Amino acid sequence: MALTPFIASLRPNSCNFALQKYLSGMYRTITCGALRIADKGKTVTLAGWVQTIRKFGSITFVDLRDRYGITQLVFDEKETQKLESENVGREFVLQATGSVRERSNKNKNIPTGEIEIEIHSFKVLNPSVTPPFTIQDDTDGGEDLRMKYRYLDLRRNVLRKNLELRYSVTRATRNYLHSHNFIEIETPYLIKSTPEGARDFVVPSRMNAHEFYALPQSPQTFKQLLMVSGFDRYYQIVKCFRDEDLRADRQPEFTQIDCEMSFVEQEDILQTFEGLIKSILKDVKGIDLKEPLQRMSFADAMWNYGNDKPDIRFEMLVKNLKTESEIHLDALKGSSFGVFEQAETILAISVPGAADYSRKQTDELTDWVRRPQIGMAGLAYIKYHEDGSLKSSIDKFFSPDKLIQFADFCGSKKGDLILILAGKEEKTRKAISELRLFMGDRLGLRDNSIFKLLWVTDFPLFEYEEENNRWVARHHPFTSPKPEDIDTMIHNSPVITDKEHYLKHPFAAIKANAYDMVMNGNEIGGGSIRIHQKDLQKKMFEALAISDEEANEKFGFLMNAFQYGAPPHGGIAFGLDRVCAILGGSESIRDFIAFPKNNNGRDMMIDAPSPIEDKQLKELSLALGEIN
Ligand code: AMO
Repeated sequence: MALTPFIASLRPNSCNFALQKYLSGMYRTITCGALRIADKGKTVTLAGWVQTIRKFGSITFVDLRDRYGITQLVFDEKETQKLESENVGREFVLQATGSVRERSNKNKNIPTGEIEIEIHSFKVLNPSVTPPFTIQDDTDGGEDLRMKYRYLDLRRNVLRKNLELRYSVTRATRNYLHSHNFIEIETPYLIKSTPEGARDFVVPSRMNAHEFYALPQSPQTFKQLLMVSGFDRYYQIVKCFRDEDLRADRQPEFTQIDCEMSFVEQEDILQTFEGLIKSILKDVKGIDLKEPLQRMSFADAMWNYGNDKPDIRFEMLVKNLKTESEIHLDALKGSSFGVFEQAETILAISVPGAADYSRKQTDELTDWVRRPQIGMAGLAYIKYHEDGSLKSSIDKFFSPDKLIQFADFCGSKKGDLILILAGKEEKTRKAISELRLFMGDRLGLRDNSIFKLLWVTDFPLFEYEEENNRWVARHHPFTSPKPEDIDTMIHNSPVITDKEHYLKHPFAAIKANAYDMVMNGNEIGGGSIRIHQKDLQKKMFEALAISDEEANEKFGFLMNAFQYGAPPHGGIAFGLDRVCAILGGSESIRDFIAFPKNNNGRDMMIDAPSPIEDKQLKELSLALGEIN
């Protein structure tokens, strides 16, 4: 049989027995995950790492591990003596030949658990020093130690499976995009600053003293240039580099599935990439999502969930009792409660079945919202008991009738606990969104085996930057406004005369032709239809207070290219690491990257970043200044 179609049929997460044939060679005839009871009587040679050694009287049991599984080897008295004389211990690399026999004490937890190998001969291929932690599922190694010895950590099942999942995601991606006529094109890593808005990592140039490359935050400008070149469907699974504060879902170098298409409108992009994510879910998780993905405007997401990446696995929608001092609930009118009176915003969620929370539990929630990360002054609550009575932290200020109005407004049912936050608009909205997720976790409503996806659309094109009293691009400066908003952009000055009421400026209402894909409350991808007309791009730079000079210096190459017939185009980029982590049911993208950095951006294993020698600095014509 030809090897290629055979390999093509392999599923990385399942053990394909026929593959075993192709693993035979000098060292082994079969892997440690393949043998079953039907193989009884066969003579085989295995090679792998010693996971455990257990001695029983004169015989010894060794669990031998490789990428495919674990097989129990049995060494008789003579072979045991040899094991001992060679000091065989954990993580030694052994090659062992023997015959397959049925185990008397079967292990139902592993696929090879019905058999064992009666060893005839073995050879130590390489000894190992004692590993710094035990290489098994529930290891005794702490995070730092495992990061330092990442190559050993990667021997553990959990990380091996994560990398296999990552491979199946990239393979599904390539299959889908290839079958939709996309071609993968590499773009350079040593470039000029890109427009994504984080800090750049820079690389000094020896040959061009005192000049620096920037590592790409994304291949944004290059993929647009490829559209000008006529490659109407481009993709690349590509490393991106951003010097920003790190979190569980952020790494300084991460991978995007970066895509761009020509002659498309937003709808074409949404359809195409909805297809991609569905295809990934089907191939990797066996989940066949038939329904079109939900679409939600940015405004609705902010109103109902308090953020632009709503976790729609559960309801518990945010209720807006008062926004920007507009009172939406009659019960609030004329109240003597100063906190609510003065608040810019009052937001509430109704937590199902939590009315019986004790005083201690509500106090804990209050402490939770007071933590510096959330920063609220306090939390009000109303318990809507099963018998219809209400108990509230604010019943001094609101009569039972009014509390009932609160409960009705919040869509609460008997048994619910209503949690209310009041304060400044942005902070309170962020806090209620966090509180909603926290309560969702507590109630077990954020099930990692369920995948809920949606598109968020109609983002504002601009964001207000208070510090410099100017507009900045919410996405990047090549994102096009919605066609119906182009006139507003062209015919209004970007100058903000009334800082306090910047939201009343016509630019605040301009919507972007941009979209994000959200899965389980995480932004997994984002993109836009680009500006391809020189005049509109000029207007955009003006709006962002980017001078002609600066635009020319930073993006002149793109502007020049656009003079030679740029097709209408748009695209999207997915965060591959995030997609993998969510599909793998994990919070942290680190677990899906072979060699990640820690939260200080350090690679603990190779100890990078690290100082360089004076000689190197000299070659680069660089001198070190004071540390900031
Ligand atoms: P954006 O900046 O939204 O868009 O990035 C696209 C996706 O990349 C992922 N992502 C990250 N993942 C891990 N660590 C990080 N530090 C990190 N930063 C971003 C997110 C995000 O949705 N050029 C545009 C795309 C386009 O317009 O086509 C871009 O890079 O999942």
